[in-house]
Amino acid sequence: MTRELPWPAALPPDARARVEAVLDGCPPHRRTTFALRVARWWDDLVTGLMPYADPPAVAARALELAARAYRDRDEELHELDERRSLEPDWFQRPDVIGYAAYAERLTPEGTLAGVGTAADHLRELGVRYLHLMPLLQPRPEPSDGGYAVADYRSVRADLGTMEDLRRLTTDLRRRGISLCLDLVLNHVAREHPWAQAARDGDERYRRYFHVYPDRSVSDSYERTLLEVFPDFAPGNFTWDEDLEGWVWTTFNSYQWDLAWDNPDVFCELADVILFLANQGVEVLRLDAIAFIWKRMGTQSQNEPEVHRLTQALRSLARITAPALTFKAEAIVGPNEVVHYLGVGKHHGKVSDLAYHNSLMVQVWSMLASRDSRLATHALGRFPTVPSTTAWITYLRCHDDIGWAIDDDDARSVMVDGAGHRTFLSSFYSGDFAGSTAQGLVFQHNPATGDRRISGSAASLAGLGRALDLLEQVVDQEGFDEATAAVDDAIARLLLGYAVVFGFGGIPVIWSGDEVATLNDERWAAVAAQADDNRWAHRPRLDWARVDGAQEDPTTPTGRVLAGMRHLSAVRASLPHLHASVPAKPVAAPDPGVFAVLRRHPVGPMLGLYNVTESPRTVPSWWIREQGLAVDQAIDALNGYPPNLTADGSVYLSTYQPVWLVRP
Ligand code: GLC
Repeated sequence: MTRELPWPAALPPDARARVEAVLDGCPPHRRTTFALRVARWWDDLVTGLMPYADPPAVAARALELAARAYRDRDEELHELDERRSLEPDWFQRPDVIGYAAYAERLTPEGTLAGVGTAADHLRELGVRYLHLMPLLQPRPEPSDGGYAVADYRSVRADLGTMEDLRRLTTDLRRRGISLCLDLVLNHVAREHPWAQAARDGDERYRRYFHVYPDRSVSDSYERTLLEVFPDFAPGNFTWDEDLEGWVWTTFNSYQWDLAWDNPDVFCELADVILFLANQGVEVLRLDAIAFIWKRMGTQSQNEPEVHRLTQALRSLARITAPALTFKAEAIVGPNEVVHYLGVGKHHGKVSDLAYHNSLMVQVWSMLASRDSRLATHALGRFPTVPSTTAWITYLRCHDDIGWAIDDDDARSVMVDGAGHRTFLSSFYSGDFAGSTAQGLVFQHNPATGDRRISGSAASLAGLGRALDLLEQVVDQEGFDEATAAVDDAIARLLLGYAVVFGFGGIPVIWSGDEVATLNDERWAAVAAQADDNRWAHRPRLDWARVDGAQEDPTTPTGRVLAGMRHLSAVRASLPHLHASVPAKPVAAPDPGVFAVLRRHPVGPMLGLYNVTESPRTVPSWWIREQGLAVDQAIDALNGYPPNLTADGSVYLSTYQPVWLVRP
């Protein structure tokens, strides 16, 4: 006797019939699982589709795509789905360390097949999550580092094939590493077949984009929009001869924004997501997700529809490939970013991961100002995020650093926001007196005064200048001074990473930082990249440097590599760092120390970070107030009780991080 499948009552009978037809050849247990998942997520799918005129109809259409992808999913991936359902917190665990790199720059082979040769190095760093930068087929250069996708279903030819990608995800998974890929969902390349068809006059595809015949509508939008690339792509619309219209282009003129108010676009991208999940991709980085919904009179960022549609996409993924994790790339303010992890009705239903841009900015800000007050205030007032989610914490990535310092936060600690942003730009471009940073100014916007910064972590920390100093040494005094400068730069870099590793969430190492890679001096040599100085901090991983660092842990690179491996190993051993527990910045009596408290049921963990180049102390009474007795605590970073001064305060040397826990 065949039993009825446990479909939800709300599923329209015709949709049910179509889905059953798709699943016809699947074994019974698999059909049951699918129906159970639909029963679980159908409501979320439909309510997520509220921005459209007929949500159940779009849901039914999307469900058919989901059924096809589910039917075609590999056995091993179905097993992964089950495993992840049994350990939904896998990405929150302290032993999950991330790494991000360009596939072509990670190994000498420069291909997907070659990525495996980096595996030993990654494993030594404790890496369990690998983000490979855009590798789907982009338009011909310039392609914004691959963020202008011409085909979501093929791999860039010089990197390999879709088959290679599948092999890579399988191989990595067997080594315990989950692959993260970008899903560029705000825009496609002007050369993508949808854009091509629109340019050829196909009305259906013209509606995939926001196209206006004259400037009247676009000018009205422009009044409230910001500019992402004011330097090389001013404005948000581009005239296209073929279209005979102005097309919305938030980023570069060749990146056409998709019209997400068109349900066809939703179904196309949903299908792409499920396709990538079936290649074994485990985490999708939802690129520039804040921008997908447009609304006149606003900045067209973070609109409520963004979260609705993410919920719908997420529901489809949960039905088809529950192992798939969503990571939001929304570089927006604190009150907005939390929505990407699910606030109110979207709690637990959108992305699991989101970039903690503010933490990154605040670390660089503290290192420049030698003061933790602004960071403690700004990070301290961050809304709580769902306990099932995690931050992506990082010190550097492939992008520039925009000084996202909120004016109100600054005012609360008696700092002028605009003045502080100007200071940070001057400091990190090396203009500020006494600064040893070697950043490059990216997208100077005279209208707002913004000067974003490019540059590798080591160069921003001052290592390049310190090493130059060392080379020019003529006497003992000069030698001592240069050595101290090198020590400080290394300590700054490792302190920054210690904050990132000690915060909770997945700490992601930007490729090259583990061996203190400096800015690539030849970044402008490639013509198509010459106007985009973000390439200065996207160098090839120098394997001679990695080998050298392994052989001699006393060199600057050796010290950094050893330091990073150590942070990773200690982190993995501390249950306190599980992401379900929030990180709470607390104001230490000395503003030269940044303090982060994590109240885990196993006991508190207090991270203390000296953000200055002079020794600092933290009184024991204050530490006791945070729930830890100094005489019963150890510094997990070295396994010993903390160094105490004569009056019993914890002593922190230059840029020293301390992770206090009960033994
Ligand atoms: C994201 C990427 C950035 C890219 C932009 C447009 O912000 O990180 O590199 O330029 O999206 O896709």
